[in-house]
Amino acid sequence: VHVEWDVAAAEKGGYEHFMLKEIHEQPKALTDTLRARVKTYSNKTIHLEEIGFDASWAEASRVVITACGTAWHAGVVGKYAFEHFARIPTDVDIASEYRYRKPIFNPKDIFIIISQSGETADTLAAMRMAKKGGARIIAITNVVGSTLAREADLVMYTWAGPEIAVASTKAFTTQLMCVYLIAMQFGSLRGTISEDELTGYIDALEQIPAQAESLLAHKEAIQRFASQQFNKTKAFFMGRLFDYAISLESALKLKEISYTHSEAFAAGELKHGPIALVDESTLVVAICTQSALFDKMDSNIKEVKARGATVLVITYEGEPYFDGTADEIFRIPRTLDPLTPILSVIPSQLYAYYASLQRGLDPDKPRNLAKSVTVE
Ligand code: G6P
Repeated sequence: VHVEWDVAAAEKGGYEHFMLKEIHEQPKALTDTLRARVKTYSNKTIHLEEIGFDASWAEASRVVITACGTAWHAGVVGKYAFEHFARIPTDVDIASEYRYRKPIFNPKDIFIIISQSGETADTLAAMRMAKKGGARIIAITNVVGSTLAREADLVMYTWAGPEIAVASTKAFTTQLMCVYLIAMQFGSLRGTISEDELTGYIDALEQIPAQAESLLAHKEAIQRFASQQFNKTKAFFMGRLFDYAISLESALKLKEISYTHSEAFAAGELKHGPIALVDESTLVVAICTQSALFDKMDSNIKEVKARGATVLVITYEGEPYFDGTADEIFRIPRTLDPLTPILSVIPSQLYAYYASLQRGLDPDKPRNLAKSVTVE
């Protein structure tokens, strides 16, 4: 028998594109990123000693997170997570803004620098500035031996494996996993999380890879929705708290690879501008996983529906709150509200991927974009 080997196809492991392959690799990447850091004795605990983390890090007076692009969105989740789990003042800033400001350093600042490649010029410049200001640096990166990894005081790797598609997927969700682990470890050392609470949080994190797998098993629902909606000229993503952070990432994914004009906003800002643009040509994706704010999201959805928008709601399995309000509902497995970002971003990754295909584009190689921006 003569077998024709297509090297490019083999690298994609049977998937049509690297992006789809990488979306599907998320359960494994998340497991790999989590497993090395969790141990069970009598209780479940997080272990970051092997990266040099000790109790002194948790004495920080403030955490500052800087990054670019998708990694910055992981930082936005990080700000909310640090406040939630560790009750520590946390700032997040875009590296290209940070480096040209006149930031004020506090002696006990901890910087968390997030970068898939570890080579983004602005991100490295922000890190060097913080170091000069006397801050201690934790890097979250996917590339062993990258410039960021070499220059930071402490490195936490995302075990995502090589990410080839320009649009980041598995690097993002594993960045989130790292951010949660660090925030929870800070919280447990600072006494804002009890031993029992920590065990509960780790239990929830441990379920996430299998939950991501079950979500991916229903990807056809998103594919079908994309085949109906890909021609919409505007797409808005709105949410509150952790859902706001994922709105930012979702809008970025869609614009990167489908060239749809997409925008994200905190849902409470709807009336402060975005609503002026809403009409029949608008797709609104409302991310609704923050239970205490369901009623607020419900009013926002009604406001955009009244102006002719088509609405996709992303919410929990078994959650009846939005039944009848949305045109389509895509459901994610139930987890703790602050941990939803790792799951709630996956429908948006898939939507962007399928919208790109529907538009006849190559999702792996979007025009004008580079995987790593090493010059300004
Ligand atoms: C580029 C890539 C994005 C990425 C950003 C930051 O814009 O296309 O996918 O999020 O750079 O890259 P980094 O390697 O620092 O995470």
